[in-house]
Amino acid sequence: MLLTAPGAQQAILGITEAFKADSFPKKINLGVGAYRDDKGKPYVLPSVLKAEEKVIASRLNKEYAGITGVPEFTKAAAVLAYGKDSPALDRLAITQSISGTGALRIGAAFLERFYPGAKKIYVPNPSWANHGAVFKDAGLEVDKYRYYNKDTIGLDFEGLLADVKAAPKESIFLFHACAHNPTGIDPTPEQWQQIEAAVKANGHYCFFDMAYQGFASGDINKDAYAVRYFVEKGHNICLAQSFAKNMGLYGERVGAFSILTESAEEKKRVDSQVKILVRPLYSNPPIHGARIASEILNSPALYDQWLVEVKEMADRIITMRALLKDNLEKLGSKHDWSHITSQIGMFAYTGLTPEQMDKLAREHSVYATKDGRISVAGITSENVGRLAEAIFKVKG
Ligand SMILES: Cc1ncc(COP(=O)(O)O)c(C=O)c1O
Repeated sequence: MLLTAPGAQQAILGITEAFKADSFPKKINLGVGAYRDDKGKPYVLPSVLKAEEKVIASRLNKEYAGITGVPEFTKAAAVLAYGKDSPALDRLAITQSISGTGALRIGAAFLERFYPGAKKIYVPNPSWANHGAVFKDAGLEVDKYRYYNKDTIGLDFEGLLADVKAAPKESIFLFHACAHNPTGIDPTPEQWQQIEAAVKANGHYCFFDMAYQGFASGDINKDAYAVRYFVEKGHNICLAQSFAKNMGLYGERVGAFSILTESAEEKKRVDSQVKILVRPLYSNPPIHGARIASEILNSPALYDQWLVEVKEMADRIITMRALLKDNLEKLGSKHDWSHITSQIGMFAYTGLTPEQMDKLAREHSVYATKDGRISVAGITSENVGRLAEAIFKVKG
């Protein structure tokens, strides 16, 4: 049997290896999926360091958590996502998960087991490279709905809406709650409202993937708009949350999966089915990262500090987008680069072709995926000028 990594993974491995092999000192890696500070270094949030010190100082034991994880953490994660006054909180079944990926995987397995309609999920085209594999491995069929319009480098809103309307009634749709990966293009609140109406009219079920709450706009409430709006409109959604990006807890694998149920009664039944499902997967989740996140979410001073720090990360990304666009314009580029600043989150879809991306790597030591996606987190005040020059030379 031939054991090779499929396309996207191979592309990412390719970038890392090519980047490492390049001896040019000013090489730029825009393939990274994690935040970097303005010096290009990995960043540990000061609020996370403080929370971790508190956790260690408490000298807690290392006993197993329950199947659904650290309760103080999941309770606070639900409040963060749905809002502290949300009536949904009373009928929400929630479990800790192995970060966002694990949340998606539990959700997929739950739907595969219990969704009464077709076991098929519609994901945006394009979507995060792992979505297809996660859903397929859990036994769901995966189909796509239109999302990206390459001519406008923007949202194909008409296509999206048409596909939501054309799908068989009671289909499952996956939506990126904010900071769509890989395009960085999100629907506006008005567009979400139209999507919600189409979803409701067709009786579809929504699975939200919220991997970037707070990290997109810098405001945790704004980034949760779509999730909260759908809930307010009566959708019993399910939701995958990740604390990898917004708390920088990548390797700690902190996440949550929740399902909004009809009633407190149904919540009990769902809670118990989630436990039955998780137990043979990994018994119970790791505790350290969840304790850190819990400490931040449950201590008012740390929480306020964290809000400032998430905003700082989001603002750095937003500033780098603006600088890249300014630099391209100053160089005399005649292209419209407004998509660079209208997109949001860690990734930008430049609209560059695979050939142009190749040229960027070969001639300018700028590495990113062939689909033209760049990680804005890899841009710094120091390299943005050179990056703009390289893009200008390749694209004009
Ligand atoms: C859209 C989306 N969903 C989920 C994830 C899952 O990330 P993690 O498992 O690290 O939380 C990511 C990470 O890049 C993502 O971009």
